Amino acid sequence: MPIHEPGRRVAIIAGVRTPFAKAGTTLKALSAIELGKIAVSELVHRTDLDPASLDLLAFGTVIPSVLAPNIAREVALMPLLPKRVDAWSVSRACASANQAITDAADQIALGHAQVAIAGGAESLSNVPILHSRGFSDALVAASKAKTLAQRVQAFGRIRAKDFVPTTPAIAEPTTGETMGQSAEKMAKLNGITREEQDALALASHRNAHAGTVDGRLTAEIAPVMLPPKYESAMTTDNGIRSDTTLEQLAALKPVFDRRYGTVTAGNASPLTDGAAAVLLMREDVARAQGYTPKAFIRSYAYAAVDPGEQLLQAPVLAAPMALKRAGLTLKEIDLVEMHEAFAAQVLSNLRGFESKEWAARAGFSTATGAVDRDRLNVMGGSIATGHPFGATGARVTTTLVNELARRGGQFGLMTVCAAGGLGFAMVVERA
Ligand SMILES: CC(C)(COP(=O)(O)OP(=O)(O)OC[C@H]1O[C@@H](n2cnc3c(N)ncnc32)[C@H](O)[C@@H]1OP(=O)(O)O)[C@@H](O)C(=O)NCCC(=O)NCCS
Repeated sequence: MPIHEPGRRVAIIAGVRTPFAKAGTTLKALSAIELGKIAVSELVHRTDLDPASLDLLAFGTVIPSVLAPNIAREVALMPLLPKRVDAWSVSRACASANQAITDAADQIALGHAQVAIAGGAESLSNVPILHSRGFSDALVAASKAKTLAQRVQAFGRIRAKDFVPTTPAIAEPTTGETMGQSAEKMAKLNGITREEQDALALASHRNAHAGTVDGRLTAEIAPVMLPPKYESAMTTDNGIRSDTTLEQLAALKPVFDRRYGTVTAGNASPLTDGAAAVLLMREDVARAQGYTPKAFIRSYAYAAVDPGEQLLQAPVLAAPMALKRAGLTLKEIDLVEMHEAFAAQVLSNLRGFESKEWAARAGFSTATGAVDRDRLNVMGGSIATGHPFGATGARVTTTLVNELARRGGQFGLMTVCAAGGLGFAMVVERA
């Protein structure tokens, strides 16, 4: 596989992200495009990248602006970068930045590119709000009207209910189930208790807080100057709770199944704004330019399950495939980064890793294995840091390669679950 070939491996040079902010708070005035530009320009500056050497920019977003749907191109058109930099946008729900990264890596492995930036951005503070069908039909009819009477007639058809706008739902178009409802279902099917979920959420906050205080997490963050005055900056994630306790978490009411549920605001990832990006290079090109890669992409895999079954369980199928492609087993993995959409999903995924039935579904005769919890999400995860859908994959990648280098481990595994029943896994190897 070309991605393994020494000298031509795909190197991860560095990653940078904006702070992540709960939607509707500190970053609400910035669009996903603006957040993306901040992450990418900081990445270029921090790595001292010669913009002329950049071949492409791939970017993920889940709810794009209807006015500028190719976010990658808008980000690439910032003055810092040459106009000839190829740029395209991808959408694979919460694994969108991972798709951008593997797209860019494939281009490098194929010999089509040598230097790439990949990542993603999301502003859930700025989701498009749509007119209802009745209101849109009236607007179209009015725009075609030739007389004032026809125009008045077009608007006359509008009923009170037509004024109710439509916002994008975090629900499966095929099943109508929301993400939260799916997490509830997974908790029930896999026997995940409320206590386990709250304990995982607590660990997420504690680890993220530790990484913020000692500077490991903060080092991955580009400060964002805040409009309109640009006199103050946001430098750290605002969802991390240093003071949360198991008692506080236990006191929160379930949100998605109020009577029998276990998923709460405390053990779910919050709706978040932010952007993240990584710099990828072909190994020999990186070395020739004086870069020391942090890690190499050793393998990756995508998988899918029926969204009506266990929506967020596909990482369980993707992980053994990625490990096999890497020629490794879970025992050889030093660090695991698992995107935390919900604590119930992480715990279901971990149960799935230990299950022979799930292994068989992925085509393996033995279970993937038990993840050592001391090696899991050691700088926190999406529950604490937040989850700007399109950006998370690049945040996870950055943290994994940085922490792997810091701890001296050799191999890292990351997994990301995504809407549509999709799952992603990637193995990275410390350089
Ligand atoms: C779960 C969800 C509905 C909660 O939204 P919310 O109600 O706006 O959440 P908040 O942050 O306001 O938290 C609600 C309450 O819980 C409290 N709380 C949340 N986390 C807490 C913690 N760790 N410790 C203590 N209290 C906590 C808040 O302080 C707040 O209390 P208040 O009402 O007294 O102010 C929302 O975050 C959500 O939809 N998440 C899932 C997103 C999703 O589906 N993502 C896709 C995954 S791939």
